Amino acid sequence: MGNENKVALVTGASRGIGAAIAERLARDGFTVIVNYSGNVALAEELVQKIERDGGKALTAQADVSNAEAVSRMFDAAEAAFGGIDVLVNNAGIMQLSSIADADDAHFDRHVSVNLKGTFNTLREAAKRLRNGGRIINLSTSIIGLKLETYGVYAATKAAVEALTAIMSKEMRGRNITVNAVAPGPTATDLFLDGKSEELIARMAKMNPLERLGTPEDIAASVSFLAGPDGAWINGQVLRANGGII
Ligand SMILES: NC(=O)c1ccc[n+]([C@@H]2O[C@H](COP(=O)([O-])OP(=O)(O)OC[C@H]3O[C@@H](n4cnc5c(N)ncnc54)[C@H](OP(=O)(O)O)[C@@H]3O)[C@@H](O)[C@H]2O)c1
Repeated sequence: MGNENKVALVTGASRGIGAAIAERLARDGFTVIVNYSGNVALAEELVQKIERDGGKALTAQADVSNAEAVSRMFDAAEAAFGGIDVLVNNAGIMQLSSIADADDAHFDRHVSVNLKGTFNTLREAAKRLRNGGRIINLSTSIIGLKLETYGVYAATKAAVEALTAIMSKEMRGRNITVNAVAPGPTATDLFLDGKSEELIARMAKMNPLERLGTPEDIAASVSFLAGPDGAWINGQVLRANGGII
């Protein structure tokens, strides 16, 4: 069975990896809901591009850390399309700080977007995703690399991996798979902002393929897990990172 007549919700899809995932899933045949928090212009531009290319898409504003906003977004998706088949939890933030220097606001921001945000959409999906659906959560290869200054960020993503495995079991009987994709360094604002060219070049060479990941590389992994060929993969973390770890 293909992806036609199926609906995919991608959080944080106005730019970066989420935008590439939305475009890829639309090309795969899904009707795509492009969630964003602040960047309405970029989200609308992406929907227009998808439609120009023959796909179907719609924007949906919601701060994923706000449980009510997430619930309303699911309501709107159900009203527009009758239900959701695929949830991609991509929205996320990353700021770097040693544990010693991380203030309460740094900790709370990461927990509220990366962990609570993922929890909010998972809880709705657990109750509302159509049987046969797929959930893909974005984690990070930093969990394996354990680099200094990534502590709070990595901790929120480790929690996302725990939710992934447990929810895959809780979906028993509904033919819904739950997996995570854990990118390595990928060329988006989140990775590039605030880093020197020298540091970016050094990090790009850390993996044996000696380049940064592209948003399209990550979208290809998500496409596999969301599509027919991913059906037997469940409760797993796929590290999409060129072999960095
Ligand atoms: N880039 C990397 O190297 C890398 C590596 C490993 C894992 N990841 C993970 O991959 C995911 C995507 O990262 P990226 O690099 O594409 O980041 P990005 O370029 O900074 O884009 C982040 C996206 O998330 C959205 N967003 C942020 N906070 C949100 C909120 N509270 N509610 C809804 N949407 C929100 C943003 O929307 P607005 O534009 O509206 O603000 C934007 O569309 C993240 O979960 C990240 O942790 C990235």
